[in-house]
Formats: sequence, C-alpha cells, structure tokens
Amino acid sequence: MRVCVVGGGAREHVLAHVLGRTAEVVATPGNPGIANSVSSAPEDVDVDLYVIGPEAPLVAGLADRLRAQGRVVFGPGADGAHLEGSKAWMKEFASRHGIPTAAHRVFTELDLAVAAVQDSTGPWVIKTDGLAAGKGVFVTDSRDEAVSDVRAKLAGESFGEAGRRIVIEQYLDGPEISVLAICDGSRAVPLAAAQDYKRIGDGDTGPNTGGMGAYSPVPFVGKDVLDEVEEKFLRRAMAGFASEGIDYRGVLYAGLALTSDGPRLVEFNVRFGDPEAEVVLPRLETDLAGLLLQAANGRIEDEPRFVEDAAVIVIAASEGYPGPTETGREIRGIERAESVEGVTVFHAGTAVSPDGELVTDGGRVLGVTGMGTDLKQARERAYEGMAHISFEGMQYRRDIAGTQA
Ligand code: GLY
Repeated sequence: MRVCVVGGGAREHVLAHVLGRTAEVVATPGNPGIANSVSSAPEDVDVDLYVIGPEAPLVAGLADRLRAQGRVVFGPGADGAHLEGSKAWMKEFASRHGIPTAAHRVFTELDLAVAAVQDSTGPWVIKTDGLAAGKGVFVTDSRDEAVSDVRAKLAGESFGEAGRRIVIEQYLDGPEISVLAICDGSRAVPLAAAQDYKRIGDGDTGPNTGGMGAYSPVPFVGKDVLDEVEEKFLRRAMAGFASEGIDYRGVLYAGLALTSDGPRLVEFNVRFGDPEAEVVLPRLETDLAGLLLQAANGRIEDEPRFVEDAAVIVIAASEGYPGPTETGREIRGIERAESVEGVTVFHAGTAVSPDGELVTDGGRVLGVTGMGTDLKQARERAYEGMAHISFEGMQYRRDIAGTQA
C-alpha cells in the first residue's frame, strides 16, 4: 500500500515512521527527518490512502476536495473539522449531545467580556474561537491578566482573526489526559491514553504551548476511566455527528479533565495530538496503515493493540517559544541521540540551510521519544537522548513524566 501523509511536523514524522512499518510512505511537504518528503501538492501524488495530519488543511476542506476526486482519505471533512475550527461550535456541539463539559460563554464585544470577568471569580480560562496552534488558551488566577488577555484577543492583537471571538469557560480542576480515537463514520475506537504537558515551564508554569512533552500509558487511567470516556464522549460525539449528517472519518481527540465530578471535556480536536501521537503510535502493535485504511473506507475491523512498553517524549523548543523565535540555528547531535537504545528523534520545526546544515525552523524544533519497559526507563532514555542534542537557545522541560516514572 502507498500512503501520503500530509503535513510537516513531528506528528507527521511519527505517522510516516509507524505507517512505514507496513506501507510505502510519501509525505508532503514532510520535513528533513522524513525520508520520502516531496514538495508536490497532495492532489498530484498517486497513493492508496491519504492521511491528513494538521488541523488547518482539514478545517480548510482538503479532505473534501480529495474525496471529490475519488481519493481515499483519513481525516474529517470541513463539516466535522469545524469542531476544532470553532471552539464556540465545539462547546455547543457538546451541549447538544449531552457531552459533559465546562460551562462557557462566547463573546465578540469587549465590554461584555470584561464585565463577565469582573463579575466572576477565577481562575479564568479564555480561549480563541479560531485556530491558534495550541497557544490560544490562557488560564490565570489574576483578574487583571484575564482582562488584558480578553482585550488583546478581541482586538486581534494576539491571535488575529482567530481571537476576535472568544470563549470564557469555567476552570476544570484535576489531571488532564488525551484520548485519541480512530473513527470510521459510525464507530470511534480509542487508542491508549496519553498525558501531555502544555505549559512551557517545569512545574506547569508559564504560557501554554503546542505541547512540551507527553507520555503513554497513563498509570491512573484504567479500564473504568476509558470505558466512561468511550461511553460519554466518543459514542455521544459519533451519535451527534450522525444526527447532524456528518460522516466523520479521522481522529477524534478528546482532551479531558478528570475532575472530582468525573471526566469533563476540555476540548475536541480533529487530528492526532502532537506530541501525544509520538508516544501513542510507536506503542501500537496493530498495523496502522491497515487500521486507517479501514476507517477511511467506513468500517474498522481491527482492534488496536498496544505493547506494554512505555514511551516518553521531550520537546526541544527555540529560545522565546511560545512567543516569536529566531530560526536558522544549527542543530547538532541527532545521530548520537538516536544511538541511545529505544530513542527516536522526530523533527517538528527543522530545515536544511543552503549550506546543507540542519537548522531550527520553528518554535517546537524536535522531540526525543524514549521507549522502555516502563515509564522510568522510557524517561531516562528520552533525557539521555536529549542530552546529546544542542542548538543555540534550546529549551526543554526537565519534568516530563517525572511524577509518574
Ligand atoms: N498536545 C495538544 C494538541 O495536540 O492539541
């Protein structure tokens, strides 16, 4: 089977890596870490299956355009991808279909949004309605900071058009987990749970990022939790899609807070989590290409199975991330990192300079995944690999999976 992975980040790198176990893979545009990266438009590649990685092309309707040409695609159409394209729509979808989530209000008017902050008690959770590469969520205990964030978002200063409509929602206490499910239009089949680290700093401090690390499995997520997630979130979402005429084939990512009142939806996304994919997919024993092809064709037959081994990823980011960053800094040590047993390096924001050097080309630069018999060994290996990597201004968290290993 020939598969085209659309996208060029670490999620697409791990997709190419795991799909490559059983399929021939081409990636567009791919990245310097993916062997068969091409610059052709997806439409110009001849394959048996497309796997669309990032949310932006899904929201923009790439899956619809490819399907209209008779191609087989894993990834929802624009109707389903609207779930991630508009946080307000996602919250309304959850309410329509009985999916437990935090209370919320939607604002476009500054004075109403500021009044809502002034009249409530924190912590405040303020989200851009539109896509913001995982950085549009601001959580704070400070009323002044909340008001400033509301102003910057609604004025279009911090996230452009994506922030001109915002969602302010109730803060959910409790650990967060990510459950990614493979959907075939009627069923959503969950993969192993993962936990990611959204804040930039150790101890969950500083601003939100696209994700600074992750691990899987999650020791405190047992079968009882997964069964509840399946029943209250995944099945209800699939029933909701069906009742709204949406044929959802792709990943449904449920970000959940495990509160004292039970799991609550933090967000749905419409693609594999990044960096969650880099710790979930390497643990998959089942043939990923076959599974995604079945889902794309409307009928999952294989049940995903996972190895007992654990995986931990640590992300190396550029100086200044999640704010503006410098690019073009030479990256050293990837080969040495991959010489550590169980370690694979996934490229996120890298490029090859005109001199042929591998250089930084984004906020999140790469991820080092360590696999081992348990989280402790996986974590040790990931950090041992990371110790070999360097570029000017490199930053990474030291506490990924620290309390679990
Ligand atoms: N790691 C968070 C996300 O993929 O949205």
